Amino acid sequence: MMKSIDVCLSPDLMHLYDVRESTVVVVDVLRATSCMVTAFAHGTQSITPYSDLEECKAARSKGFITSGERDGKKADGFDKGNSPFEYMGEDIRDKKIAFTTTNGTEAIHRARAAKKLVVGSFLNLSAVVSELLSGESGVLVVCAGWKGRFNLEDTLFAGAVVERLKDHFEPECDAPLAAQRLYNLARHDMLQFLSNSAHVRRLARLNIHKDIAFCLTEDRYSVVPSLASGVLTA
Ligand code: MLT
Repeated sequence: MMKSIDVCLSPDLMHLYDVRESTVVVVDVLRATSCMVTAFAHGTQSITPYSDLEECKAARSKGFITSGERDGKKADGFDKGNSPFEYMGEDIRDKKIAFTTTNGTEAIHRARAAKKLVVGSFLNLSAVVSELLSGESGVLVVCAGWKGRFNLEDTLFAGAVVERLKDHFEPECDAPLAAQRLYNLARHDMLQFLSNSAHVRRLARLNIHKDIAFCLTEDRYSVVPSLASGVLTA
């Protein structure tokens, strides 16, 4: 029997899915999961996702580097914000990071009951796809979206996964089909396709441009972070 693939277009729709038997891929292309993948590719030991800002900040006293973002901006009192370029240096090698972002870490939190939870982004797309192909379970891609709303960039990632798995996995409903169609429309110039999208405009207002092109690069890294006991490791 073919394994199934589904796409949850917003964390607010998570109640529709039973993740306990699935491999869940959480994606927040701009920029939380792109940062996490970049950090692991540069030797970070672990990332603990937090929903709560203050709890995350307090982890510094336990030896964590703290990373905090709200509304696209670095949160006050944190060591780092949410640009992948902050996660490429020696300062994060072998370190534990406590991470909180507006949508990405919240999506991980809501999907934590998954049989297996991995973190995806365009940066590690092929590595994620290989992992899903070798697994036994059905797949659910959970798009982090924006405060419960749909976003295009996470849906494009979901579509890229569906496209690459189409000969091996059967779509559960129309969400994976829609995501796949959108990805195929966008794939030759994702930056252009996303130029009017809400978060690209939000980041542009904050003068954040280079992160966007970087986060849309496919297959720069081969790490697949996964969650166990509330902690991500690669
Ligand atoms: C989030 O988690 O909401 C995002 O990663 C926001 C951002 O681009 O910093």
